[in-house]
Amino acid sequence: MLVDGPVVLRPYRRSDALAWSEIRRANRAWLSPWESHVPGSWDETNSPAAFRFVHADQRKSARTGDGMPFAVCLRENGEERLVGHVNVGSIVRRAFCSGYVGYWVDSRVAGRGVIPTAVALAVDHAFGPGGLHRIEVNIRPENQPSRRVVEKLGFREEAYHVRYMHIDGAWRDHIGYAMTSEEVVAEGGLLARWHRVRDNRG
Ligand SMILES: CC(C)(COP(=O)(O)OP(=O)(O)OC[C@H]1O[C@@H](n2cnc3c(N)ncnc32)[C@H](O)[C@@H]1OP(=O)(O)O)[C@@H](O)C(=O)NCCC(=O)NCCS
Repeated sequence: MLVDGPVVLRPYRRSDALAWSEIRRANRAWLSPWESHVPGSWDETNSPAAFRFVHADQRKSARTGDGMPFAVCLRENGEERLVGHVNVGSIVRRAFCSGYVGYWVDSRVAGRGVIPTAVALAVDHAFGPGGLHRIEVNIRPENQPSRRVVEKLGFREEAYHVRYMHIDGAWRDHIGYAMTSEEVVAEGGLLARWHRVRDNRG
Protein backbone atom coordinates (compact mmCIF):
# COMPACT_ATOMS: atom_id res chain seq x y z
CA MET A 1 0.00 0.00 0.00
CA LEU A 2 1.30 3.49 -0.92
CA VAL A 3 -0.12 6.43 1.03
CA ASP A 4 0.15 10.22 0.94
CA GLY A 5 -2.39 12.14 3.04
CA PRO A 6 -5.88 11.01 2.01
CA VAL A 7 -4.64 9.33 -1.19
CA VAL A 8 -4.12 5.56 -0.99
CA LEU A 9 -2.82 3.26 -3.73
CA ARG A 10 -3.50 -0.42 -3.21
CA PRO A 11 -3.94 -3.57 -5.30
CA TYR A 12 -7.43 -4.12 -6.69
CA ARG A 13 -9.70 -6.59 -4.91
CA ARG A 14 -12.49 -8.75 -6.26
CA SER A 15 -14.81 -6.81 -3.94
CA ASP A 16 -14.11 -3.57 -5.91
CA ALA A 17 -16.45 -4.76 -8.69
CA LEU A 18 -19.56 -2.79 -7.70
CA ALA A 19 -17.79 0.47 -6.85
CA TRP A 20 -15.60 0.24 -9.96
CA SER A 21 -18.61 -0.35 -12.19
CA GLU A 22 -20.64 2.48 -10.62
CA ILE A 23 -17.78 4.97 -11.16
CA ARG A 24 -17.01 3.82 -14.69
CA ARG A 25 -20.67 3.89 -15.77
CA ALA A 26 -21.31 7.30 -14.16
CA ASN A 27 -18.21 8.75 -15.90
CA ARG A 28 -18.77 7.59 -19.45
CA ALA A 29 -18.76 11.08 -21.01
CA TRP A 30 -15.78 12.06 -18.83
CA LEU A 31 -13.58 9.04 -19.67
CA SER A 32 -14.51 7.86 -23.16
CA PRO A 33 -12.82 10.70 -25.16
CA TRP A 34 -9.47 9.77 -23.62
CA GLU A 35 -9.42 5.96 -23.35
CA SER A 36 -9.01 3.14 -25.82
CA HIS A 37 -12.05 0.91 -25.69
CA VAL A 38 -12.56 -2.81 -26.19
CA PRO A 39 -15.53 -3.94 -28.37
CA GLY A 40 -18.93 -3.86 -26.65
CA SER A 41 -21.12 -1.13 -25.19
CA TRP A 42 -19.76 1.09 -22.39
CA ASP A 43 -22.23 -0.35 -19.88
CA GLU A 44 -21.32 -3.94 -20.79
CA THR A 45 -17.56 -3.45 -20.69
CA ASN A 46 -17.87 -1.57 -17.40
CA SER A 47 -20.31 -3.89 -15.64
CA PRO A 48 -19.54 -5.58 -12.31
CA ALA A 49 -19.22 -8.86 -14.26
CA ALA A 50 -16.70 -7.28 -16.68
CA PHE A 51 -14.57 -6.27 -13.69
CA ARG A 52 -13.70 -9.96 -13.22
CA PHE A 53 -11.81 -9.88 -16.52
CA VAL A 54 -10.26 -6.47 -15.85
CA HIS A 55 -9.12 -7.72 -12.46
CA ALA A 56 -7.77 -10.98 -13.89
CA ASP A 57 -5.75 -9.00 -16.47
CA GLN A 58 -4.38 -6.71 -13.76
CA ARG A 59 -3.37 -9.64 -11.56
CA LYS A 60 -1.72 -11.33 -14.49
CA SER A 61 0.24 -8.21 -15.48
CA ALA A 62 1.37 -7.71 -11.87
CA ARG A 63 2.40 -11.38 -11.62
CA THR A 64 4.35 -11.42 -14.87
CA GLY A 65 5.97 -8.04 -14.23
CA ASP A 66 4.32 -6.36 -17.24
CA GLY A 67 2.48 -3.83 -15.09
CA MET A 68 1.97 -2.25 -11.68
CA PRO A 69 -1.79 -1.57 -11.47
CA PHE A 70 -3.20 0.30 -8.48
CA ALA A 71 -6.67 1.17 -7.26
CA VAL A 72 -6.63 4.85 -6.25
CA CYS A 73 -8.65 5.43 -3.08
CA LEU A 74 -9.52 8.45 -0.93
CA ARG A 75 -9.64 8.27 2.87
CA GLU A 76 -12.18 10.77 4.12
CA ASN A 77 -14.46 10.93 7.16
CA GLY A 78 -13.18 7.58 8.42
CA GLU A 79 -13.97 5.85 5.11
CA GLU A 80 -11.81 4.65 2.25
CA ARG A 81 -13.41 4.55 -1.20
CA LEU A 82 -12.25 3.78 -4.70
CA VAL A 83 -12.02 6.93 -6.85
CA GLY A 84 -9.64 6.13 -9.67
CA HIS A 85 -6.86 4.16 -11.26
CA VAL A 86 -3.15 4.42 -11.98
CA ASN A 87 -1.01 1.87 -13.77
CA VAL A 88 2.60 1.57 -14.81
CA GLY A 89 2.17 -0.63 -17.88
CA SER A 90 4.02 -2.04 -20.90
CA ILE A 91 7.07 -2.58 -18.72
CA VAL A 92 10.21 -3.58 -20.60
CA ARG A 93 13.22 -4.68 -18.55
CA ARG A 94 16.81 -5.45 -19.68
CA ALA A 95 18.45 -2.41 -21.31
CA PHE A 96 15.24 -0.31 -21.18
CA CYS A 97 13.77 -0.64 -17.67
CA SER A 98 10.88 1.52 -18.86
CA GLY A 99 7.11 1.71 -18.50
CA TYR A 100 4.09 3.85 -19.42
CA VAL A 101 1.80 5.46 -16.88
CA GLY A 102 -1.97 5.64 -17.42
CA TYR A 103 -4.63 7.04 -15.09
CA TRP A 104 -8.16 8.28 -14.56
CA VAL A 105 -10.20 9.69 -11.69
CA ASP A 106 -13.90 9.99 -10.89
CA SER A 107 -15.06 13.43 -12.13
CA ARG A 108 -16.71 13.96 -8.72
CA VAL A 109 -13.25 14.34 -7.10
CA ALA A 110 -11.42 15.98 -10.04
CA GLY A 111 -9.30 19.06 -9.44
CA ARG A 112 -8.12 18.04 -5.99
CA GLY A 113 -4.67 16.81 -7.01
CA VAL A 114 -5.56 13.15 -6.43
CA ILE A 115 -3.97 11.93 -9.67
CA PRO A 116 -0.73 13.95 -9.45
CA THR A 117 -0.31 12.49 -5.97
CA ALA A 118 -1.14 8.98 -7.23
CA VAL A 119 1.27 9.28 -10.18
CA ALA A 120 4.04 10.55 -7.90
CA LEU A 121 3.52 7.61 -5.52
CA ALA A 122 3.45 5.10 -8.41
CA VAL A 123 6.52 6.58 -10.12
CA ASP A 124 8.56 6.62 -6.89
CA HIS A 125 7.55 2.98 -6.39
CA ALA A 126 8.51 2.15 -9.99
CA PHE A 127 11.89 3.92 -9.75
CA GLY A 128 12.59 2.43 -6.30
CA PRO A 129 11.44 -1.12 -5.50
CA GLY A 130 10.15 -1.54 -9.07
CA GLY A 131 13.63 -1.10 -10.53
CA LEU A 132 12.57 1.05 -13.50
CA HIS A 133 14.63 3.87 -14.97
CA ARG A 134 12.27 5.64 -17.38
CA ILE A 135 8.56 6.48 -17.25
CA GLU A 136 6.57 7.76 -20.20
CA VAL A 137 3.08 9.26 -20.42
CA ASN A 138 1.28 9.75 -23.73
CA ILE A 139 -1.60 12.24 -23.85
CA ARG A 140 -3.91 13.56 -26.54
CA PRO A 141 -3.06 17.23 -27.26
CA GLU A 142 -6.69 18.19 -26.53
CA ASN A 143 -6.55 16.70 -23.01
CA GLN A 144 -5.58 19.83 -21.08
CA PRO A 145 -6.34 18.44 -17.57
CA SER A 146 -4.07 15.44 -18.17
CA ARG A 147 -1.33 17.60 -19.66
CA ARG A 148 -1.50 19.74 -16.52
CA VAL A 149 -0.91 16.63 -14.39
CA VAL A 150 2.41 15.81 -16.08
CA GLU A 151 3.45 19.46 -16.42
CA LYS A 152 2.92 20.05 -12.69
CA LEU A 153 5.01 16.93 -11.94
CA GLY A 154 7.79 18.15 -14.23
CA PHE A 155 7.69 15.49 -16.95
CA ARG A 156 9.62 16.48 -20.08
CA GLU A 157 7.67 16.94 -23.31
CA GLU A 158 9.78 15.04 -25.82
CA ALA A 159 7.76 13.55 -28.67
CA TYR A 160 4.75 13.94 -30.93
CA HIS A 161 3.21 10.61 -31.95
CA VAL A 162 1.04 10.91 -35.06
CA ARG A 163 -2.11 8.72 -35.15
CA TYR A 164 -0.74 6.92 -32.10
CA MET A 165 -3.73 5.17 -30.57
CA HIS A 166 -7.31 4.26 -31.52
CA ILE A 167 -9.55 6.21 -29.14
CA ASP A 168 -13.18 7.28 -29.40
CA GLY A 169 -13.52 6.08 -32.99
CA ALA A 170 -10.33 7.38 -34.63
CA TRP A 171 -6.52 7.18 -34.60
CA ARG A 172 -5.48 10.00 -32.27
CA ASP A 173 -2.20 11.92 -32.11
CA HIS A 174 -0.47 11.95 -28.71
CA ILE A 175 2.20 14.10 -27.06
CA GLY A 176 4.93 12.02 -25.41
CA TYR A 177 6.15 13.05 -21.97
CA ALA A 178 8.93 11.28 -20.08
CA MET A 179 11.07 11.31 -16.97
CA THR A 180 14.08 9.25 -15.87
CA SER A 181 15.03 8.35 -12.32
CA GLU A 182 18.13 10.63 -12.35
CA GLU A 183 15.83 13.63 -12.82
CA VAL A 184 14.14 13.25 -9.44
CA VAL A 185 16.58 11.36 -7.23
CA ALA A 186 18.39 14.55 -6.09
CA GLU A 187 15.03 16.05 -5.08
CA GLY A 188 14.15 13.10 -2.86
CA GLY A 189 11.75 11.59 -5.41
CA LEU A 190 8.71 12.70 -7.37
CA LEU A 191 6.37 12.86 -4.38
CA ALA A 192 8.76 15.28 -2.61
CA ARG A 193 8.89 17.38 -5.78
CA TRP A 194 5.08 17.35 -6.07
CA HIS A 195 4.70 18.46 -2.44
CA ARG A 196 6.98 21.43 -3.11
CA VAL A 197 5.12 22.36 -6.30
CA ARG A 198 1.72 22.01 -4.61
CA ASP A 199 2.76 23.98 -1.54
CA ASN A 200 4.14 26.82 -3.69
CA ARG A 201 0.84 27.00 -5.58
CA GLY A 202 -0.89 27.78 -2.29
C1 LIG B 1 -6.65 13.96 -16.21
C2 LIG B 1 -7.21 13.61 -14.82
C3 LIG B 1 -6.78 12.20 -14.45
C4 LIG B 1 -6.63 14.64 -13.80
O1 LIG B 1 -6.88 14.18 -12.48
P1 LIG B 1 -7.07 15.19 -11.23
O2 LIG B 1 -6.91 14.40 -10.00
O3 LIG B 1 -8.32 15.98 -11.41
O4 LIG B 1 -5.80 16.18 -11.45
P2 LIG B 1 -5.62 17.67 -10.86
O5 LIG B 1 -6.44 17.85 -9.63
O6 LIG B 1 -4.17 17.91 -10.81
O7 LIG B 1 -6.25 18.62 -12.00
C5 LIG B 1 -5.60 18.68 -13.27
C6 LIG B 1 -6.24 19.81 -14.10
O8 LIG B 1 -7.62 19.51 -14.32
C7 LIG B 1 -8.34 20.75 -14.45
N1 LIG B 1 -9.44 20.74 -13.48
C8 LIG B 1 -9.48 21.22 -12.23
N2 LIG B 1 -10.68 21.00 -11.66
C9 LIG B 1 -11.40 20.36 -12.60
C10 LIG B 1 -12.72 19.85 -12.61
N3 LIG B 1 -13.53 19.94 -11.56
N4 LIG B 1 -13.15 19.23 -13.74
C11 LIG B 1 -12.35 19.12 -14.79
N5 LIG B 1 -11.07 19.55 -14.83
C12 LIG B 1 -10.62 20.18 -13.74
C13 LIG B 1 -7.37 21.86 -14.19
O9 LIG B 1 -6.89 22.31 -15.45
C14 LIG B 1 -6.25 21.15 -13.45
O10 LIG B 1 -5.00 21.78 -13.64
P3 LIG B 1 -4.53 22.94 -12.62
O11 LIG B 1 -4.22 22.26 -11.31
O12 LIG B 1 -3.34 23.52 -13.26
O13 LIG B 1 -5.68 23.91 -12.46
C15 LIG B 1 -8.77 13.70 -14.83
O14 LIG B 1 -9.14 14.96 -15.37
C16 LIG B 1 -9.45 12.58 -15.62
O15 LIG B 1 -9.65 11.48 -15.10
N6 LIG B 1 -9.80 12.84 -16.89
C17 LIG B 1 -10.48 11.86 -17.74
C18 LIG B 1 -9.59 10.66 -18.06
C19 LIG B 1 -8.25 11.04 -18.60
O16 LIG B 1 -8.08 12.06 -19.28
N7 LIG B 1 -7.22 10.23 -18.32
C20 LIG B 1 -5.84 10.49 -18.76
C21 LIG B 1 -5.65 10.07 -20.16
S1 LIG B 1 -3.99 10.51 -20.73
